Amino acid sequence: MPVAAVIGAQWGDEGKGKIVDMLAEKAAYVVRFSGGDNAGHTVVNPQGEFKLRLMPSGIFYPGTTAVIGNGVVVNPAVLSQEMDDLNSRGVDTSRLLISDRAHLIMPYHIVLEGLEEEARGGAAIGTTRKGIGPAFADKVARIGIRVGDLLEKGVLRDKLAATLEYKNKLLSRVYGKNPLSLDEIYDQYCGYAERWAPYICDTTAVLAAALERDDAILLEGAQGALLDPDFGTYPFVTSSSPLAGGGCLGAGLGPDKIKHVLGVFKAFQTRVGAGPMPTELDDDIGRTIRERGHEYGTVSGRARRCGWFDAVAARFSARLNGFNSIAVTRLDVMDTLPRLKICTGYKVNGKTITDFPASIATLEKCQPVYEELPGWEKPTDSVRIFTDLPVKAQKYVKRLEQLVGCPASLISVGKRREDTIVRRSIF
Ligand code: GDP
Ligand code: IMO
Ligand code: MG
Repeated sequence: MPVAAVIGAQWGDEGKGKIVDMLAEKAAYVVRFSGGDNAGHTVVNPQGEFKLRLMPSGIFYPGTTAVIGNGVVVNPAVLSQEMDDLNSRGVDTSRLLISDRAHLIMPYHIVLEGLEEEARGGAAIGTTRKGIGPAFADKVARIGIRVGDLLEKGVLRDKLAATLEYKNKLLSRVYGKNPLSLDEIYDQYCGYAERWAPYICDTTAVLAAALERDDAILLEGAQGALLDPDFGTYPFVTSSSPLAGGGCLGAGLGPDKIKHVLGVFKAFQTRVGAGPMPTELDDDIGRTIRERGHEYGTVSGRARRCGWFDAVAARFSARLNGFNSIAVTRLDVMDTLPRLKICTGYKVNGKTITDFPASIATLEKCQPVYEELPGWEKPTDSVRIFTDLPVKAQKYVKRLEQLVGCPASLISVGKRREDTIVRRSIF
């Protein structure tokens, strides 16, 4: 099983960090392939509790190499801070590799994103304001600056001078703001070049050699399928593909190499930021889920919108990603609820639909059609074997499997590595 992908199957924050940290024990490489420091992946292991943004969640095992792939946008200041924090807590980060093809987040990306979000007013996307969208936009507009450019100072200065001239026009003429200084940004990024040069390489060659040796590689997804720019709730989406297909592009691997796609689902639904969410609960049950599950942004602290499991969205996600199996996380959060609901269809314009619509205007009108199941009302956090779960909890998981259309290989009942029911090994 050389390559497995761990994919966020909903709107992000499904518990990918926990699952990757657990599975990485058997992986020689753990590769982040999309997003940037908009991600916040929580890992709780014997070394402590960590909130990772750019650092792949496999960094905690001495035998695992952590790779930031070409599909990621890298803010070198954030990565520096993250590495310093990890080092100060005794985590060895020397086995990090950064793709020379990954794009850099520049100061103007962050400034411009703030201005764009303000300008959108009530239609703001509610982005993480880390400059992610503007950096990916520059990548496809062919004016991005890449990690590899840090190694060629002349190229770095020339590219920065050309792009900054244009960005400064935007800042001053469109937004009436002061221009940014070429010298200051150049000097700052030359400093990053010093620090990061030893880690920068062609990571595709490293992964190709790993495949030759039949080493296990784990692809670590960021965000979730419903934030995909093509298939998510556009324009309330992120700017790179969190799907399994994005794993091939963002790591530089052929699609035939991925042998197992693991979709990570929460046992319910959450979303941060704006955009439609048909099963959102603005009531006591929603608040109970938020408080029991500490559903607040890992990095931003923003309250997450909570609701019932949406099987319409889940089936769509499974179809887009081709899941071989799923991980159901946070089952324990539902331990106290007397009744549970699962959304199996949407009512819209007098019809019931079971396909996730492309139009957000339609999605906003969708009324969830629910089926109800009894809650188990017993603690599950210490359970390690599926059949030891309360029967009603087993039934809930089996119903999710049926609706999503694939088996649950992992069930997570707590945030620590060991709080997991393993029904089938991924590697
Ligand atoms: P990610 O972005 O997908 O890695 O997820 P986040 O780290 O942003 O959010 C998941 C949160 O749920 C974190 O606080 C985890 O520690 C926590 N978590 C993960 N799995 C479980 C679980 O099974 N039960 C509980 N109670 N918490 C969990
Ligand atoms: P992880 O990897 C949850 C959301 C933002 C916003 C939208 C666009 O921890 O699951 P962006 O800054 O990417 O342009 O914001 O996407 N978003 C996330 N929501 N988890 C994440 O990452 C997210 N990354 C981005 O809240 O709605
Ligand atoms: Mg997160």
